[in-house]
Amino acid sequence: MQNETQRQLRDVFGTFVTGVTVVTTRDSQGQAHGVTANSFSSVSLDPPMVLWSQSLKALSYPAFQDSDHFAVNILAEDQIEVSQRFARSGADKFGGLPIDISESGMPLIRGCAAFIECRKIATYPGGDHAVFLGQVDQFRRMPVRPLAFGGGRYMVAHPHDLGAGADDPSDSKLDLLRAQRLIHHALPDLADRLKGIVGLGLWANEGATVVRWEPGPDPAVRDLVSGHVVSPQASATGLAFCAWLPRTRWHPLVEREQARVDHSQPIDSVSEEQLEAIRREGVARSTVNRNGLEVAALSAPLFDRAGRMVAALTLADRADRMPDDPNHPRAQQLREEAAAISRRIGWQEPQLTKSA
Ligand SMILES: Cc1cc2nc3c(=O)[nH]c(=O)nc-3n(C[C@H](O)[C@H](O)[C@H](O)COP(=O)(O)O)c2cc1C
Repeated sequence: MQNETQRQLRDVFGTFVTGVTVVTTRDSQGQAHGVTANSFSSVSLDPPMVLWSQSLKALSYPAFQDSDHFAVNILAEDQIEVSQRFARSGADKFGGLPIDISESGMPLIRGCAAFIECRKIATYPGGDHAVFLGQVDQFRRMPVRPLAFGGGRYMVAHPHDLGAGADDPSDSKLDLLRAQRLIHHALPDLADRLKGIVGLGLWANEGATVVRWEPGPDPAVRDLVSGHVVSPQASATGLAFCAWLPRTRWHPLVEREQARVDHSQPIDSVSEEQLEAIRREGVARSTVNRNGLEVAALSAPLFDRAGRMVAALTLADRADRMPDDPNHPRAQQLREEAAAISRRIGWQEPQLTKSA
């Protein structure tokens, strides 16, 4: 197979996301060996069997070939360094690493998510690899999350946002949690795609709060602070909540802010026309001058399956890159990204019904 085709095949193999293990053994001289391997797979429950495959070129291959036992250490999510250490070819990889020794003499690395000790019962040829089949003697599981690996990168494994339980329409609190988790995970990619600073806004006990800003490439402002309560009427995030949440939820906060800020202004500076326009256009907009730089923010609502606004997706950038035009491509893209997230948490776009 040509190099290029081989690389493409490796990429295809890489789309199959796995855990990460360090398989260990001990040679006839008593020396410990270990190698990072994601080829591990469970095979059978009765009798309990597992397999993994090792490159014939690995320095530790003779040790695994000769040994009657091996142990599979399933790495925890904070053990990337352990994975890297055992992925480097060489002699002593165990120096300074806290380990225990199992009954059969196999090194067990502390802090792992699980251990499986095996007796080797067969070795099969597998091209440039050897496939080791082991019968499980002992196993143990720890209450920590496993490390994952896919597409050539380390990953963390979270339960799927649309997994079991996601279909209960009465579960609005879970919807909110799911939405938050989904957006948290999506934020870095969103900031890349939207080419600006992206914020996740939630309605908390003090009103609109941007719980996280993701700077994105070349951010216009570098000192945005996550976790700040923002103005309900002067920020895009706050205005989005005012437009889509019931008035009773936000009006007391607007009154309070108004009383604090300026007594000469009318109490309710957020007009119903303004909110109606925001709802029609699907985004709220605000601008602020930060150290002489005009910064604009656009905010779009995220809805749950019941059509309630659960969060705001906010995009901030220099004002000259975000014209005050709801049909500008950046506003359109923000609306589309927000709608895509809403759909993932069960929201169904209202269908226009034609009158007879
Ligand atoms: C995530 C990951 C998974 C790996 N999986 C395997 C595997 O399943 N089999 C294998 O032979 N090598 C695998 N490797 C590569 C070995 O860990 C690497 O070749 C190691 O240096 C071999 O050590 P040795 O030459 O000291 O025996 C993997 C490496 C990484 C980073």
